[in-house]
Amino acid sequence: MGQYTQETRLNAICPYFTMFPLDFPYGVLEQHASPGEWVADPFCGRGTTNYASRVLGLPSIGMDSSPVAVAISQAKLANTNPEAILRSAKEILKVFEEPSEIPTGDFWDWAYHQTVLQALCRLREGLLQDCRSQSRQALRGIILGALHGPCGKTARSYFSNQSQRTYAPKPTYAVKYWKRHNLQPEPVDVLGIIKRRAERYYSGQRKATGRVMRGDSRDEASYQHIDRGIRWVITSPPYYGMRTYIPDQWLRMWFVGGPPEVEYAMDGQVEHTSPELFAKQLKEVWKNVGNVCVPGAQMVIRFGGINDRAAEHLPILDDSLQGSGWAIEKIESAGSASKGRRQARHINNTAKPPREEHDVWTVWHGG
Ligand SMILES: C[S@@+](CC[C@H](N)C(=O)[O-])C[C@H]1O[C@@H](n2cnc3c(N)ncnc32)[C@H](O)[C@@H]1O
Repeated sequence: MGQYTQETRLNAICPYFTMFPLDFPYGVLEQHASPGEWVADPFCGRGTTNYASRVLGLPSIGMDSSPVAVAISQAKLANTNPEAILRSAKEILKVFEEPSEIPTGDFWDWAYHQTVLQALCRLREGLLQDCRSQSRQALRGIILGALHGPCGKTARSYFSNQSQRTYAPKPTYAVKYWKRHNLQPEPVDVLGIIKRRAERYYSGQRKATGRVMRGDSRDEASYQHIDRGIRWVITSPPYYGMRTYIPDQWLRMWFVGGPPEVEYAMDGQVEHTSPELFAKQLKEVWKNVGNVCVPGAQMVIRFGGINDRAAEHLPILDDSLQGSGWAIEKIESAGSASKGRRQARHINNTAKPPREEHDVWTVWHGG
């Protein structure tokens, strides 16, 4: 695989529960796409497909129903620089001197030092009021990535008390842990962390073309502003039974406008009540995305299963593709989930062996 090491730091701006590795969309596009061809991902998550497109100079569209996913993916396509990002943060802090709302309770007392929480609330309010500029979108991505994580031994790079970085801490458990270990939150330098991260992620990025939108990809109306010109779709839907995206990201959800507590609502997410319903909903997505594609467009779907659901993943995907306008060309093994950071690995805490994942290559004959 080519020369991408220089430019890939931005892909790590914020972890997301179930991302696929950059190598996957990058490899497909590097080998097969031609300059100027549009790429789309209707389940863009943290925007890995969009970022691979950026690195290769290809224009792309991303869609996701989770506001956290959309915020991270928008940051991946932001054309800005470290100075402009820091300026945006300072501007917001100047205008929003006092936050109108600061969450209270044990969790918030222990998760952040009061000066840090104050600054985060001011930045949150400013970004909720206006996040149209690319610098603000980059700033929001940076803050989401730094919101919670380990304290580290040297320079602090997260705002929170000791936490995991991928999942948000569960309040009761986290408070017990902090109290038991007498871990007081520290007054970390919020602007300093933003500056270092901005320099890390936004120095020397190639110009990006395209956009990321919040939308339910099952709904035809979500595609109404997308021109019919997509040549490549590279995507990975939630694996059947994998339903914890929203609650596991509750703290980042709060930052993008959600409530200051764990959110269990699953609005806008594909339903997992039966394999049949799941396949039917995926079929809607495949039809909708096909309708904004050029004839002969290709879609590559990475799909697997999780161990606590017995259903086999390939028959579900096959069922979803039947009558969707997409014909299967080939199915390749993507290895097992223990290799690389894939969906099943994050959720298989059992001793069961990880399940094999597949890349299903399809071509658009519909429309
Ligand atoms: C497996 S993740 C995609 C991960 C992505 N490939 C990445 O690298 O980050 C699946 C995504 O589908 C999104 N999703 C689930 N149902 C959706 C729907 N109906 N419309 C749009 N997005 C949906 C979830 O929010 C989640 O971000």
